[in-house]
Order: sequence, then C-alpha cells, then structure tokens
Amino acid sequence: MSFLKHTPQFAKQDAIAILNDLYDIQATADALPSERDQNFRMSTPSKECFVLKIANALDDPALLDCQNQAMLHLNRQVTFCPKVVTNRNGEFISEIQSPTGATHKVRLVTYLPGVPMGSVQRRSSGLFEDLGRCVGEMDRAMTDFDHPAARRDFYWDLAKGLQIVKEYHPLIPNAHLRELIEKFAGYFEQSVTPLLPDLRKSVIHNDANDYNVILGGNGDLYTRNQRVVGIIDFGDMVFSHTVGNLAIAIAYAILDQSDPLRVAAHMIKGYHRPFALTQAEIAVLYPMVCMRLCMSACIAAHQLKERPDNEYLMISQMPIQRTLPRLTEIHPRFAETAFRQACDLSPLPRAQTICKWLDRNRITAAPLLDIDLCTAPLKIFDLSVASSLVSGNPEKNKESHLTKKLWEKMQAAGVSVAIGRYNEARLIQTRFIGNIDSPTAEHRTVHIGMDVFAQPGATVYTPLAGKVYAFSNNEGSQNYGPVIILQHTTDSGDSFYTLYGNLSLDTLEGLTAGKSIAAGQQIGRIGSADENGNRTPHLHFQIITDLLDKDCDFPGVVRASEQHLWKLFSPDPNLVIGIPQDRFPAPDPSTSDTLAARRKYIGRNLSIGYRNPIKMMRGWRQYLFDDTGRRYLDAYNNVPHVGHCHPKVVAAASRQMSVLNTNTRYLHDFINRYAKRLCDTLPAPLSVCFFVNSASEGNELALRLARAYTGQRDMIVLEVAYHGHTTSLIDISPYKHNGPGGKGAPSWVHTAPIPDLYRGLYRSDDLQAALKYAGHIDDIIRELQDNGMGLAGFIAETCPSVAGQIFLPKGYLSAVYRRVHKAGGLCIADEVQTGYGRIGTHFYAFEAENLVPDIVVLGKPIGNGHPISAVITSPEIAEAFDNGMEFFSTFGGNAVSCAAGLAVLDAVIEENLQSNALKAGKRMLAGMIPFIDRFPIVGDVRGSGLFLGVELVRDRETLEPAREEADFIVNRMRDAGVLLGTDGPFENVIKIRPPMPFNESNAEFLVANMERILTEDFLV
Ligand SMILES: Cc1ncc(COP(=O)(O)O)c(C=O)c1O
Repeated sequence: MSFLKHTPQFAKQDAIAILNDLYDIQATADALPSERDQNFRMSTPSKECFVLKIANALDDPALLDCQNQAMLHLNRQVTFCPKVVTNRNGEFISEIQSPTGATHKVRLVTYLPGVPMGSVQRRSSGLFEDLGRCVGEMDRAMTDFDHPAARRDFYWDLAKGLQIVKEYHPLIPNAHLRELIEKFAGYFEQSVTPLLPDLRKSVIHNDANDYNVILGGNGDLYTRNQRVVGIIDFGDMVFSHTVGNLAIAIAYAILDQSDPLRVAAHMIKGYHRPFALTQAEIAVLYPMVCMRLCMSACIAAHQLKERPDNEYLMISQMPIQRTLPRLTEIHPRFAETAFRQACDLSPLPRAQTICKWLDRNRITAAPLLDIDLCTAPLKIFDLSVASSLVSGNPEKNKESHLTKKLWEKMQAAGVSVAIGRYNEARLIQTRFIGNIDSPTAEHRTVHIGMDVFAQPGATVYTPLAGKVYAFSNNEGSQNYGPVIILQHTTDSGDSFYTLYGNLSLDTLEGLTAGKSIAAGQQIGRIGSADENGNRTPHLHFQIITDLLDKDCDFPGVVRASEQHLWKLFSPDPNLVIGIPQDRFPAPDPSTSDTLAARRKYIGRNLSIGYRNPIKMMRGWRQYLFDDTGRRYLDAYNNVPHVGHCHPKVVAAASRQMSVLNTNTRYLHDFINRYAKRLCDTLPAPLSVCFFVNSASEGNELALRLARAYTGQRDMIVLEVAYHGHTTSLIDISPYKHNGPGGKGAPSWVHTAPIPDLYRGLYRSDDLQAALKYAGHIDDIIRELQDNGMGLAGFIAETCPSVAGQIFLPKGYLSAVYRRVHKAGGLCIADEVQTGYGRIGTHFYAFEAENLVPDIVVLGKPIGNGHPISAVITSPEIAEAFDNGMEFFSTFGGNAVSCAAGLAVLDAVIEENLQSNALKAGKRMLAGMIPFIDRFPIVGDVRGSGLFLGVELVRDRETLEPAREEADFIVNRMRDAGVLLGTDGPFENVIKIRPPMPFNESNAEFLVANMERILTEDFLV
C-alpha cells in the first residue's frame, strides 16, 4: 500500500501553526484517527470547532476539489454535512511542505459535534430510519451534482463489485465464507447484473460506515444519540449507481444486528420518504448490500496478503464474517418484499394476482377430503398460545397427549374432521420448545398453513389441477414428514404452489416430478404419528405464492415479527378450501385493540407496565408468553411463587372447585388442615389463623386485632411503607398518603424514618445505625405518652419492598419490638413479600432476626395467584378479638382457597424452592455487585435470595436518584424479554423478585442482559 508511505506526519504543534498561518485561526489541536491522511480537531477559545485535513501526498487534487464542491453543494440543501472553510486568501485548498519535502494539500471543514455511530451500542429503529432519511436527502441533493474526478475507476465502487469479488475471493482463507461469497456473486450476476442498466446514477458519498455517521439528539434517554447529525468523510466519492449509497449504509448498519432485515427496512423507509426509490432499485438493494460486504471481505483478503501482520484488518472483518452467513438465510425476493412494504408499495404484486384468481375459482375447487369441508360438521380448534388444549408444560404438548385431547374434543363434538387455524401464534410446533439457552429469543410461532385433522389413512385430494413440483420425506420431529408440493398456474400464467404435509409414507411411492394431477384427483393419505414427523394425524395444507427456492423446506411456521410478510407468501388456505367464514370464531382483539378497550373501560390509575405494553396470554414456571408466543423471563412477579400455573396448585384448586366451594360457616377439613400447616411453619405462640382474600384485607384485620387487644388506636409505621389499598391502609402507608394524590398521615399514624443504610439518616458506615434508627421509635412513644396516648402497635415489612428492596440493619427490628412491647403495643410483621423462603436463608424474613411477631400477615404468594391472605396470631390476641362481634369473610378460607394454599405450601417444600432462591440469588449478587465498581450509575446492589434491588444514582456523593435511567433499563430489559420493575421512593431501585423456580442459568441470563444494557451509551 504505497499510500501509507505518503501519510502526512505532522505533530499537534504543526497543526496549530498551520491553522494560524493559513486561516488566521488560533486553536488547540487533537489528533483524529486516520490511516492514509491526517485530521486534527481544532478548538478555538470561543468554542468553535474545525477539522484540519492534511491530505496524503498521493491524493489527487481534483478529488479533493470534488469533495469540497460536493460539500458546498450539499450545504445548500442539508444540515448534516460539514462546511468548507476558506483560507486567508479565500481558497478552499492550501499547500504545505512536510519536513521531508513532500507537498500536502490542506483543507479546513467545520467539526460536527456528536458521537460516531460506531461507538454507540444501542441503535433504535428511530435511528435507522433517521439514517435512511439522511442518506436519502443526500442522494436527492446530489442528483444535480457532477465532477470529473468522481468519474473514476475506484475499487470501492459497488458497480465494480462483481469484478472485485471474482478477482479476490480465492484469497479468502475461510472455505465456508468463500463458498458463501461465491453463492452471493452467482446470484448477483444472474439476477442483478441485467437490472443495472436501468438504475439511476449520480455522484455518491459511497462510504456511510459507522464511523462516518455522527449521532446526536438528547431529548431523553430514549432519543439520546439516536439522531443523525452528520455524515462526514467524502474521500470515497464516486459516480455510480445512486442506490449503492443506501446499500453501503445498510451494509454497515446491519452488521451484527439480530434482525438485519428489520434494520434495512427501517432505513429504506427513512430514505424513500425524501427520495423515492424506483422499483428496480428496490429489487437490487438487498443483493447490493450483500455484495458490499462480500467486496469488503475480498478487499481485506487482498490487503492482508500484502500486509499479513495487520491484525486490525482481521478484527474489523469479524462482524462481516459473522453477518454474511445470516444474510444467506434471507432470500433476496423476501427482502425485496419487505423493502417494498417499507416503501408503501404493493409488497408482493404476484400474491395479489394469485389471491384474486383463487377467489374467483373458489367455487370450482374440488374438496380436499372425502367429506366436503364447506358443509360437513367441523370443529375449529383453538391451538393459540392461550388455548386450553395446549399446556405451558412442553411435555404435555407431546404428540400422544395432544392427540388424545384433540380426538376427545372431536368425539365430543361428533365430528370426524377438525381444523387448525391459519395465521395463529402457537406454542406447539415451534422450534422453541425445550430451548432454554436463550430463554427469550424469538422463535417461529405463527402457523401459516391450515391443519385438517382427520384419522390417519384418510384420502387427500387436490382441489386444483396442477403438476407435482417437489416431494420429500421431511423426517424429524415437528417437521412435515412426507410432503408434496404441486405447481399450479393462473389464467394469466402466474405459477403458485399448494403444499400437502404430514402425509403417509406410501403417498410418495411412484411419484415423479412433473406428473400432472387433475382437480379432485387423489394425491395421498393422511399419515400416522410414526410417519408424519410425530404429530397428531392431520393434513398441513398451505398455499405458496413464491417458493423462494426452498421447495419442501418452505416454512409452515414463521416468526411473528415477519408474519405480515409471510402472509403474502402463504395466503389463507381457505381461499381454496372455502369453509364459510362464519364457522370460524371471531379473531381475538389485537394488542392495540385490547389497550384501547382497557383505556376505555378500566380506571386510568390502574397502571400498565412498560412503554410498550405486553398482552400476556400464558404463564409457565418462571416464564410468561405474550399473544405472539414470545417468551419472557419473569424476574418481577412474586405472586406465582411456586411458578406460573403450577400444575399441582391448578389441579388442587380445580379439583376442589368441581366438588365444593362454600363459606366457612360449614365445617370442612381443608381450612383446619391449612391452618395447622401454616402454624407449623411459625414459631409459638403463633397458632391461630384467620383467612381473607387479599393482603390488604389481611393488614386491615391485623389492625383490628391490634386495636382489639390493646384498646388503643395509634400505630407506628415506617417511611415509604405500603400495606394495601383500603382507606385505613392508605392511612398507614406513607408511600401512598405522602405520594401523588395523598393527603398526608392522619393523627393516629406516626412515621419513623426508614432504616435505609444506603441513603437513609444513618448509613452503612455507622455501626450504631440500628440503635439510632430504633431511637426514633423511642421518640414517637415518648411523645405519645407525653400526650397521654397509648400505642396499638407497629407494622412493618420485615424487608421493606416498596421502599426500595431494603434490608433493615441487624438488630433494628428486635430493638423496635422491645420498645413497642414495653409501650403496650403489638408488632405486626407484613411478610406479604418475603414469606415462604423468598430471601433464601429463612422461610420468613423475621426469622433472620430471631423475632416472634405478635401478628403475621401473609398474602400474594401463598395462593400462587389464587387470592388468599392469612393472618396468624397468638391465642391470647385472638381471644381479645373475639369480643362478641362476628368475624366473617365471604370467601376467606373457602375450600378452594385452602386447597390451593395447601398445594403451594407442599410445592415450596417438596421442590426445595427456598434453597433454589438462595442459589439463584447468590449467582445474581455475584454477577451484579461488581457493577458497583464498573458503572458509576450503580450505587448499590442488595438483597438476599430472590429479593434483590439495584439502586441507581446519578451522583455517588449526592445520591441523586437515577429514576429515568432505572425506568429506561427496565424497558430495555423488557425488550430483551426479561421482566423487571422499579421501586423505592424515587423509583430508582430496580426490583428483582421472580417466581421461585427462577434458576441459576436464568440468573446468569438476567445479569448478562443487564450488563449489556448498562454498557449502552445512554448514560454518556
Ligand atoms: C407489603 C405489602 N403488603 C400488602 C400489600 C397489599 O396486597 P394486596 O394488593 O393483595 O391487597 C402489598 C401489595 O403490593 C404489599 O406489597
């Protein structure tokens, strides 16, 4: 590379002198990275900023002029391009001599403040769209620009891509990559080269790579660095296909992106708005993107041959090597469809024509089976995510279970045929079952064929005349098994296909490709489970408008994020089958319809989680599933304590529901058994239970017990506490009565400071903190007594959750209990959040302090979602409450609730969930405590077991809460499929409180995602 020998070698001092001499500007200099020329950022005392560009001695002066002219031209029309500054003689280019005597051309341009996209980790769809817009605006502005120097023979010209690739690809050492590149090149030559003459040409920037795109924007955390403020470095300009400029920008933007097509579509959408793409440009775009990456790999191989020691070259190629294989999975015609849709053009015109033709010919199509599906009695199965025919437990979805259930349903309905719906998101037949490596990755869930369930051996006929196009036995679980594809032709000559999957093996015997099949002719039989890919016997019938060269591997189940595109490639099979639409149930409301109805009919202060709300359809253990079948790792919900939809809890409650569910005025053994089991988990003298339906009711009852026993009314509570939503509980919940809409504490409520060792009055460095905090209780009691008042009690969560996942200082609660008892009050432990082993070390959090509360309130987790709350106290207190007034709760303690409660207790113990919580919690703490040293925003990581908090602060000294940042991280984690929440008086504590089956690998997944998001530059 002879260019490198002529790279200018000026020092910062030289740059300062050059700027002063040539431009009369005084400034400081900072070197900017560049290999073949030299760039200095020059900052003046008045905060003006420029880039001093000293060209390589071999650089063509005409090309430098071309760059200047292009920038001057662009400056008249766009805002994101540097401005060229003249020297003291009014010239755009000056000349200087290096100490070695070489002549270098010098230019000065304005510096665009911002961050190079290459150093920004988070790239939102808004950013990609904005980048597309800028490239579009740039190309529109350049349509009337030309310069002789741009009409050059340049190896980075995409128009020369095929030639470069052909020449250099043999130099690529990695055989697999080489083959891929050959394949791309072959496709390009065949399908793109003929279209090239139709493409528009102009002078293009030709290098909108990550480091030439400058980002800014700082509205909020979501928009920070998500807007393009500059496109720089015009050194690669060339006269070429205009669309190449966009292809190059896309090629860099999609590197290492999990969904390259989505990224490209966003950019195209942005581009098309200011500068409409032609249909031919859209058609070549995807192959051009791939070609650019192939070119880059080939040129790098060539450069490496010349400079084998250049490690940087090798490293910079890694993203291309990782991305290219993924691009081969996307068929160019599929990409073209996505891109046309992004441009609001008819996305797949042939699909429209074929669908219209099918619609017209519906009446003449022959029946698929011996019975006419249009008129015969049918069952339409719901196999969607929330279907009761499907289980959250993958084991229960296995063929034998499912077949049994489906046959039973058909028998009960008196039908011999049933239908599985088209365009239905399912948890069965997806690749995702059993995959726990990436528990939240998107899997193929949406079914784009129609299932016709019937007995194995049932004859299948083709509804439309055609010929055999392909057939195969796609063995393997969840595959098509024996499958045939027929080719058909519309009147206007368009080909389309019908796919018949899960047939019997003998169907394939004697078949030959090209064989003609008449409408109504038998083509096979429905296969049995042992020959059809281990599936419930059915015919999978699908229409295909473009096979995308996939033949018998054409997917029958696709990713929900691409559902809108696949529906064009596989329209509704009912176009051929013709079952009257009114025999199908109405489709479920979309997420946006559900949201609109929620807003209309439900009180607005019932908040909805996340900026992008989730329509949740199913739960299983520590996972939740939305309406598209996407799986989320639940690290937030403590109510499904033993796991969402625990089968034993479900069975116990539903069994009892079908036997008896009545109130506690009759004798029943379950309430007694449940009460005894609960008391067995608690220390003496806690041995009398009351049952109600929610923890709010539980705490209300606890208040009444304390007042009945002491004859007093006043209560001591902790700052920021929350104990429930009823009127008196709002009174004892400073989190509510001191929060928005609150009216402050009533006179009978006395608030003690929250013993928060991180940001409270006394902190972890104060060895006397526990006693000092307890001293405030003394103050309150003294004041009460001075006023001649008594104390009913003290209520606190043993580990205050709403206050920010606080662990109280050792010795604090025992000191408080002593003081309260001495003053005649009772101590109520609200163990709603921490009971049943959540903190890992103990079954109840108060045990860690060796305490015996007077009243314990349990709620939320003890019913695993069934509404139960238990209040347990001593016989003495219960007796005082028994003052003649009857206590009755209509639903509290009913047989169904007790059955559920007993099953939860069994599961916690049988499944060792407390020790699981300890292990998983330790793993998370080990992963997250180092964040305190690595990320200034992470002020504290605390907790035990599966009750953890990560407190975020903007300043380690002032502890300014990082509330928006916490909310941002929680929303980013949601995008990654991990559900979390925030808490604390400033909502700056990330709350981790998963169902108890949450395991160590889940812990690692959570930590890795949080680390990735903390590394994103939203904090910069
Ligand atoms: C500590 C605590 N106590 C009581 C309650 C009230 O529970 P519920 O909403 O079931 O009435 C809550 C609810 O969040 C709570 O966190």
